[in-house]
Amino acid sequence: MVCAYRARASKWPQQLFEDPWAEAIAGPEGHAIAARLDAVFPPMELWLGLRVAYLDRMIARSVDALGVRQVVILGAGYDTRAARLPRAGVRFFEVDHPATQAQKRERVGRLPGYPVDAATYVACNFEREDPIECLVANGLAASEPTLVIWEGVVPYLTEGAVRATAARLAAGLDPRSLVAFDFVGKKFAAGQDLSDKDRETRAYVGDLGEPIRYGTDDILPLLYDSGFRWVRSLDFNELALELLGDYRRDRQFRFQHIALAAARTPSAGWP
Ligand SMILES: C[S@@+](CC[C@H](N)C(=O)[O-])C[C@H]1O[C@@H](n2cnc3c(N)ncnc32)[C@H](O)[C@@H]1O
Repeated sequence: MVCAYRARASKWPQQLFEDPWAEAIAGPEGHAIAARLDAVFPPMELWLGLRVAYLDRMIARSVDALGVRQVVILGAGYDTRAARLPRAGVRFFEVDHPATQAQKRERVGRLPGYPVDAATYVACNFEREDPIECLVANGLAASEPTLVIWEGVVPYLTEGAVRATAARLAAGLDPRSLVAFDFVGKKFAAGQDLSDKDRETRAYVGDLGEPIRYGTDDILPLLYDSGFRWVRSLDFNELALELLGDYRRDRQFRFQHIALAAARTPSAGWP
């Protein structure tokens, strides 16, 4: 489904990114799932496209401003950043559940020209294993700054799992590292006071096998408790304004956010 949306967003007149692999990975099955979500939640393509574009830009910014040479895609799914956004001297690590990762590798391995070696694949079940230990065992240098992109995962975890993973990232990575992730608002996660449309969206996502479990309107306390000492978050109106240059009241982005967190204030030059 996300590949179907990335394929569509790649064709926006105001193109924010291009994913040349998304169409082939999505296939008719991915487009069919996305079409069913469109029926209950039309803005999904826009919000996913903006989220992908913003996190893509984080790679260039953290490489240029923070000296990052390691990018970790945590809960990678069918992420294609390692193939799309290579930078000289930068290593990509894709961390995922062994079953999901095996399917992804099998699928991209069949795509002519897909650079399967662009990422180091780290199979890790977060419920039983420590992601930092898994990464270090596969070559991540814990004493070097790292960008962690944790996209489309936090809403599906319990709060306990979000806290545990955030604490491991804050303590286990070099303090010059940056963690970037998206999260949803508290009412959406709890299914409270929702419009009929929002309730249908939440139910449809749950029917896909990944129910929404965690949301908050203020991520700073959890990140502080987890050991982070610099936090920025932005909502999707702010994201749309930054990337598309306008504000439209009818955009249904009120429950979507992106957070950036670091264990200490990033170096000068970081906005
Ligand atoms: C909704 S997908 C997001 C994929 C991708 N980051 C994106 O934005 O398209 C959630 C990802 O979290 C991973 N995940 C869920 N539970 C996990 C676990 N216990 N251990 C490791 N990965 C897990 C899934 O395998 C999946 O790749």
